[in-house]
Amino acid sequence: MAFTFQTTPNIRFGAGASSEIADLLKGYKAAHVLLVTGNNVRAAGLTRKAEAAIAEAGIALTVFDGVLADAPSHVIEAAAEICRECGVDVVVAIGGGSAMDTAKLVAYLAKTSDKLDDIYGVGRATGDRLPLLLVPTTAGTGSEVTLTSIVKTPTNEKKAVISPRLLPDWAILDPVLTLGLPPHLTAQTGIDAMAHAIEAYTGKIKKNPISDQLALKALALLSANLRKVYTDGSNLEARSEMLLGSMLAGMAFANSPVAAVHALAYPIGEVFDVGHGLSIALVLPYVLEFNRPAAEALYAELSDVIQPGYRRQSDAVDAAAFIAEIEAICRDCGVPGSLSAVGIGEGDLSKLAEGAMKHEERLLVNNPRELDYDQVREIYAKALAGVSRP
Ligand SMILES: [Fe+2]
Repeated sequence: MAFTFQTTPNIRFGAGASSEIADLLKGYKAAHVLLVTGNNVRAAGLTRKAEAAIAEAGIALTVFDGVLADAPSHVIEAAAEICRECGVDVVVAIGGGSAMDTAKLVAYLAKTSDKLDDIYGVGRATGDRLPLLLVPTTAGTGSEVTLTSIVKTPTNEKKAVISPRLLPDWAILDPVLTLGLPPHLTAQTGIDAMAHAIEAYTGKIKKNPISDQLALKALALLSANLRKVYTDGSNLEARSEMLLGSMLAGMAFANSPVAAVHALAYPIGEVFDVGHGLSIALVLPYVLEFNRPAAEALYAELSDVIQPGYRRQSDAVDAAAFIAEIEAICRDCGVPGSLSAVGIGEGDLSKLAEGAMKHEERLLVNNPRELDYDQVREIYAKALAGVSRP
């Protein structure tokens, strides 16, 4: 056995944790902080306590609230420029995956002379970065504990920068910040987190004992609480468990990377401007069904993790029960049953399949079952028809 495991070195978790941010900043002797966020997150008041705490501590604050969905490259470059001009010495992000992915690269680009175009891929960002603190406001991406930033290029492609340099110094998880997330986004981000845990647990290459335990705990927490937070977003205990689950799933897939579910989801976001979580939810059951012949024993192991009290029978029955329960969670949380719900038609399938195959080296290589262009297209066709079973 041989593996590498990397994660964020410092984690603070708890209701109200985001207002303790100034104490953590003092540890870095911060004189000037850049807060990276989205204007909707700021307008919802989610940055208010942190901003007040930073001001109270006498630390200069510049707010960049121009984060956009899917972290477009020009936004990252603009924020990095502001960071350099203002002489910022610590970067903080409060927001969802796009805000955190943006801030990770801002902290890196502001400190090095690297250009964003030169660091796409694995391990190409090798310079120093500014101290970085990440505060998620959704229970989904787990970006606060991953080595990855996903960037939308000017040609609408999703590219990844993957490097240990992108792990933040601190992940600060405050479930209070997730209370106001509307039901549909709660569901979609939660299903994304479940997909991270499932794909980490079934990863073909880098699955390891630590990522396995994290994925199992993540799936147990996420599956037990997703319906609860979908129907009652104010349930702080369930929100806490979702946030913890999404972080654990993030730690798992940061070290045993995601696979075909993500490879097939990205083109949906690229071509149709559909959010990441919804893209994932639309293809998840169909990819699981495709993978079943190769991943049956592993899916069986997850069957009673997501359904406490489920009595295991045989790998074949249990794997089917696992996929059926994932489908049920998606359905109960309002996920549309077909790609047509987001405007996708038969004529789009080839383009989507071509897009998914672009992720062959980074994502498809981790999939428990090999798949080629025709098989990818067939999975999309089933997701369009809304029929996952043969
Ligand atoms: Fe994801």
